[in-house]
Amino acid sequence: MIPLPASVSASDRLITLDRTAAPVVGEGLEETAAWLRGELGCGAFRLRLDPALPPEGYVLSTVTGTADITGGSVAGVFYGAQTLRQLLPPAALRRVRPDTLPVPQVEISDAPRFAWRGVLLDVARHFMPVPDVLRFLDLIAFHKLNVLHLHLTDDQGWRIEIPGWPRLTSVGAWRPESMLGSRIHERYDGRPHGGYYTTDDLREIVAYAAQRQITVVPEVDMPGHMQAAVAAYPQWGNGFAGGVRTAWGISSHVLNLEPATLDFCRQVLDHVCDVFPSELIGIGGDECPTDEWPGGRELQARFTAEMAAHLASRGRRLYGWDEIMAGGAPADAVVAAWRGTEPAEVAIRAGHQVVACPDVKLYLDYRQSDHPDEPTPVGTLLTLADVHSYEPPASPLVLGAQANIWTEHMESLRRVEYMAFPRLCAFAEVVWGPAERDFAEFSARLPQHLARLDALGVNYRPLSGPRPWDARPDAPGNPRTLEDRLAELHEMTADLR
Ligand code: ACM
Repeated sequence: MIPLPASVSASDRLITLDRTAAPVVGEGLEETAAWLRGELGCGAFRLRLDPALPPEGYVLSTVTGTADITGGSVAGVFYGAQTLRQLLPPAALRRVRPDTLPVPQVEISDAPRFAWRGVLLDVARHFMPVPDVLRFLDLIAFHKLNVLHLHLTDDQGWRIEIPGWPRLTSVGAWRPESMLGSRIHERYDGRPHGGYYTTDDLREIVAYAAQRQITVVPEVDMPGHMQAAVAAYPQWGNGFAGGVRTAWGISSHVLNLEPATLDFCRQVLDHVCDVFPSELIGIGGDECPTDEWPGGRELQARFTAEMAAHLASRGRRLYGWDEIMAGGAPADAVVAAWRGTEPAEVAIRAGHQVVACPDVKLYLDYRQSDHPDEPTPVGTLLTLADVHSYEPPASPLVLGAQANIWTEHMESLRRVEYMAFPRLCAFAEVVWGPAERDFAEFSARLPQHLARLDALGVNYRPLSGPRPWDARPDAPGNPRTLEDRLAELHEMTADLR
C-alpha cells in the first residue's frame, strides 16, 4: 500500500467481499458510501465515525468478513476506504471489475503526519479540460493527498471567467502558439492553444474535490505573471500593447498599481472567494519584475498588504510564494516556500505558517533521470529517491508540503501523469508517513502499486525509463546541475536574508 499505513497487522488468510451485501452507513457518511459503492461495485462495507480517533485517522478491519471502516471524521473514513481499494487486487480498480473481490484479513490503524498534503497543477501554461482535472483529483485522492493548489492565471493564459471582465477569457485565455521545449532553443509549435473554466466548471471541480476530501486552493498570480490580463485590458499595465505571451519565462509586463487596478484585483478575489470555499486564497506574488515600476520591491509589499486586508474582510487568508516576504509579508499570510530549502527557514523565523515546496526536491517538472529519452529535461535531476528523501523542516509552523507541477512542457494530462507518477507516490509517503523512511522498503512495495496505476490507466514513468511515446525529440530541454541551481537560488533569495 502507498502511502504505507502507520500500523498493519495481517494474516495470510483472505476473505471475499460479499458482492450482494448491503452497506451499513453511519450518519453523515452517505456521500462517502455512495462514492465507495461506485468504486467497488458493491456494498460490502460498514462505515462509521468515532470522534475519539484522530480527525483524519481511521481503523480498517476485515476480520469479520466484511470491510469495517471507522474514521475520526468523514475524511478518516474516506482514507480507510482508499486503503481498502489498495488491499483488493489491482483488477478491482478497473471500471469493469472481477466477479470476486478477495481481501487479506487485516487490522489497520492509520493517520497522516501532515495536514497539508498538496499538489500544484498549473492549468495556465497548458489548459486542462475539466474531465482531466477530475481524473487528476481521483489520482491524488488515491494517494491520500488533500490539497489541489490550482494555478489559474499566468503570462501565457487566463483560465477563470470573471463577471464583468469578459476580455480576460475572450482574449486572455488564448495564444496563437507555444514554445516547443526550453526557451533557450526559441522554437515554436505554430499551433493555437487556450481554454478557460466557467464558474460552473470551477464549482464542479470544487465539489468533486470536496467529495474526495481535497481542498482546492485557487491562485490568481499578481502583480506579476499578469501579461495575459494586461493583454486583455491594457489599462492595468504600464503601456504594454501586446498579446498573451507565447514564450515561456517571466514577462516584465506586470500590473500597474493604480487604484483602479487594485479595484480590479479585489473584484477578482471577490469572485474567487465566491467560487472557492478554501480559507486560503493564493495571490502568487512570485517572480515580479519591477522594471516597469517607478519604485521597487516595497511597492509589491504594499500591494500584498492591500490584498491580504481585502481577503481578511472576507474571512480568508492570503497564500503566497516566498517572494512576498521581501519587505515583510502580512503576519497571517501562509508562505509557499519554493526557492530551494532556505525560504522555509526564513518564513519560520518570521513566524509564518509554511508549506514547503522547494524546487530542488519537489518540482515535478524537473527531469526524472538523465536517460536520453526523458521528455524535455529541465531543472535539476530529481529522481524518485530524491523526492522520497525530502523531509520538511521540523516546526509546528510547517503545515506540510506540496509537489508542484508546472506545465510548460506538459500539454496534456497524459504528460502530467508521466511527470507526476511515481514521484507523487514517494511524496505521499513523505507527507502521510513517518519522518524515518527507507527507500529500499518503499521500492519493494512500488511494483505492486504500479500494477494498480496500470489498472487505472496511468501513464506513469516506468522504473526502467521512458516508454517510446514519452520521448519529445521535437521539444529539447535545458538540464541544469544542482550546483548551478543552488548558486542561482542563493542569489535569488538574497533579499530575504
Ligand atoms: C514558482 O515556481 N515561480 C513559484
